[in-house]
Amino acid sequence: MKKIGVLTSGGDSPGMNAAVRAVVRTAAYHGVQVVGVQRGYDGLIENDFVEFGRGSVANILQRGGTILKSMRSDGFRTLEGRKKAFENIKNAEIDGLIVIGGDGTFTGANIFMNEFDFPIIGLPGTIDNDLVGTDFTIGYDTALNTVIDAVDKIRDTAESHNRLFVVEVMGKDAGFIALRAGIGCGAAAILYPESEEDRLKDLVVRMNSQGRRKKLSNIVIVAEGAKEGDAQSVGNVLKKECPGYDIRVVVLGHIQRGGSPSCMERVRASQMGFEAVNSLREGRRGEMVGMVNDKISYTPFAKAIKNQEKIDVNLLKMIDILSI
Ligand code: F6P
Repeated sequence: MKKIGVLTSGGDSPGMNAAVRAVVRTAAYHGVQVVGVQRGYDGLIENDFVEFGRGSVANILQRGGTILKSMRSDGFRTLEGRKKAFENIKNAEIDGLIVIGGDGTFTGANIFMNEFDFPIIGLPGTIDNDLVGTDFTIGYDTALNTVIDAVDKIRDTAESHNRLFVVEVMGKDAGFIALRAGIGCGAAAILYPESEEDRLKDLVVRMNSQGRRKKLSNIVIVAEGAKEGDAQSVGNVLKKECPGYDIRVVVLGHIQRGGSPSCMERVRASQMGFEAVNSLREGRRGEMVGMVNDKISYTPFAKAIKNQEKIDVNLLKMIDILSI
């Protein structure tokens, strides 16, 4: 391996820069050249490459977002686009690629790798934590901290005005942000996409139950893709069904994707970026580098994107019990 490319794709996440820095510096240590591909797969198709030396990644460890910029590429979904990308890769004499992103990124990587027999290693970069084969994706920890910081502030108003706040967090298809943020901020309940039952009905019964302790403030966390609807519609149902409560709805939105990565985020992103270069050099391909039980692990792309990890029902039960 003489030259590798690195790109970030899909939604940006805090810690992506730390991973890019680790890739560039590890490669430089081994005398491998690095090309930064701008704007994800679109940069491959449009030949948007920048030579990266060890100095190019100075002072980015602590920065949110991604210096490489990111996109969800429509062009890469077409064979024509992927052919163009392969031509550009060959012309630039790139021997392997490291892609940092989520399920869409790995789906594209898998197709490309099989079509053109080209080595690619993935790093899990998404705040959603919805990839199989890693306990934590790059960005998840920081996003959780952003959410609980925001909800702690919301809690002040909830407490001062005796209000119930319905807070929407990100997670179109996965409830991992809702789950851990819900525990971290003492939520009365969480609603999430993978749920098999209608948890809103149960929440209405609980909120109206005579035996329920009169609480000054209540927080309900709703993942944006929750089975029961988004925060606005959940708020409307609660307003109608729980007349005793003064209810407000807050959508946290993209503040969850930004900000300086937490320390653990920087540590894990550095470890994974370091390992990604080593694994490409050792001849590995088609795998996502993750961390399980604090150790580096490898998961084939096809398995990593399955999103089969279930929300831990014991943690859900715990949320109900701890909020009585
Ligand atoms: O995949 C990360 C994510 O933040 C999801 O949780 C969310 O549904 C989506 O991206 C939002 O994407 P966009 O920034 O394109 O609106």
